[in-house]
Amino acid sequence: MSIILALESSCDDTSAAILKDGNILTNITSSQEVHNKYGGVVPEIASRTHQKNIFFIVDTAIEKAKISKKDIDAISFTAGPGLIGSLLVTTSFAKGLALSLNIPLIGVNHLQAHVLANFIDEPKPKFPFLCLLVSGGHTQILRVDDHLHFEILGQTLDDAAGEAFDKAAKIIDLPYPGGPNIDKHAKSGNIDAFSFPTPKIKALDFSFSGLKTSFLYSVRDGIKENKNFIADNLNNICASYQHRIVSYLLQKLEKASKETGIKEIALAGGVAANSYLRKKLIEKAEKNNWETYIPASQYCTDNAAMIAITSYYKFEKGLFDNQSIKAYARQEKL
Ligand code: KG4
Ligand code: ZN
Repeated sequence: MSIILALESSCDDTSAAILKDGNILTNITSSQEVHNKYGGVVPEIASRTHQKNIFFIVDTAIEKAKISKKDIDAISFTAGPGLIGSLLVTTSFAKGLALSLNIPLIGVNHLQAHVLANFIDEPKPKFPFLCLLVSGGHTQILRVDDHLHFEILGQTLDDAAGEAFDKAAKIIDLPYPGGPNIDKHAKSGNIDAFSFPTPKIKALDFSFSGLKTSFLYSVRDGIKENKNFIADNLNNICASYQHRIVSYLLQKLEKASKETGIKEIALAGGVAANSYLRKKLIEKAEKNNWETYIPASQYCTDNAAMIAITSYYKFEKGLFDNQSIKAYARQEKL
């Protein structure tokens, strides 16, 4: 029997979750709309807003789970990677609460948590499996041998897939975060209306910076010919660009599956909420005889439920941290 309170504040979402015996009771997230007008996350504003939201979010998660603070057996939080000022809010909060309740503290790696979001609901992937982790900060293909052992088979050498969506959205004046907006407009667009080049990077690594530049030039050239180019072609631009990103991601995933012989395939991270990626993965799975796993959309973007499930596996093994644990901005190892 265990009840864990999990906290996440690595970027611009403040989130708290309660997990009981491996099952999520509550997952409360507050997204910071305040960044939309800046076209991206402003770190200083993000940490101040986490500070403002954290008490209410934690209280709501506890109250809705119908438990009280004294029932909590452990507190977990995202230790990194992420924005350091944002991470420090829940790191300090978790340390203080663990001390006052005299219960264990568990620091969680944010990327590992994105992958383990696949273990929140049924069916759960079987080991070993491959996971395409696509978020605003990372793009990786991982081989996962058990809950806490991962190997990076390939990763982006420049921008992440989420950045490729967000930066393109900014060029065509769609609000931040651009990914969900491109997804929405692409639904009624033609994937063949515009052609963007497939990046040429060897092995299982990725590059998105060239694709973004080619997007910028296409839009500029279009505007030179027609000043209403964006408005006249919005859905088609989104559909064609999204198609290129998704095809590229799946092409590498297919290569990884062929090379490793692994047919258990999972998605994770904010971009895994993309409806076209989810649809195309299913098609690839039929062709290649894959078993696929995709977390529910609310567990793809940043959330504390994924921190909770990751800490559950650490809790089971007695892998606790002490008060000297430090938040870290950059990924050191998985
Ligand atoms: O995992 P996440 O919430 O935060 C990070 O750890 O980075 O991912 C955020 C990223 C953003 O770049 C956002 O545009 C993208 O996920 N995203 C999407 C969709 N929903 C979120 N990208 C494409 N289509 C979506 N539906
Ligand atoms: Zn994330």
